[in-house]
Amino acid sequence: MLILNFKTYKEATGKNALIIAQIAEKISEQTGVNIIVVPQPTDIYQIKRAVGIEVWAQYLDPIDPDRHTGFISPYALQQVGATGVLINHSEKKLALKEIEKRVKYAKKYGLTTLVLTDSAEEVEKINLMEPDYIGYEKEELIAGDVSIIEVEGPNIENILDKIDHPLIIGSGIKEKEDIIESLKIGAKGVILASGIIKAQDVEEKILELAKAFKEF
Ligand code: G3P
Repeated sequence: MLILNFKTYKEATGKNALIIAQIAEKISEQTGVNIIVVPQPTDIYQIKRAVGIEVWAQYLDPIDPDRHTGFISPYALQQVGATGVLINHSEKKLALKEIEKRVKYAKKYGLTTLVLTDSAEEVEKINLMEPDYIGYEKEELIAGDVSIIEVEGPNIENILDKIDHPLIIGSGIKEKEDIIESLKIGAKGVILASGIIKAQDVEEKILELAKAFKEF
């Protein structure tokens, strides 16, 4: 699976978010690769009305619908059509207790959970929370030119030995070879942002990267 995080990039906000999601859907249909888009919460509804691929949220708060202001409730995400959520992205870090609460709330509202971490030590604790997927990213590699697979290969193998939930890896992934190597090592998929969002030709780049799943 290829998870495309839109972050708060201008190129992936509002009308642009819709355009990228439509391209992702087209390529997912063409190649049969599961491409999941992760826009800002303000764009989920319009995207979900227009495309059939999965749309996940970047964050959620551990609350039920009630007298709360300024939160992102899992119920609201479910209502607008989100089917999954990122938890503890390195750009939105949380304490372990907070991660655990969010996993519970996401499950309560039927949202698939991808709990991310940049710490090989934290991985075992996250594994016990029973998320659907565990994500491993290195903050310092995000949006850079060196991919996680180039520098973290042995660590990723160690992590795979410690967990019994599928692993998604991310940070600095931009090339087809990065994805092929990630899958070879045992990852279930990749999560990426800048390699696609900042590409000169987004459609060409998504297609190129999706093909990696076929060549693996
Ligand atoms: O969530 C994906 C992410 O943090 C990786 O970002 O730009 O290195 O692909 P990027």
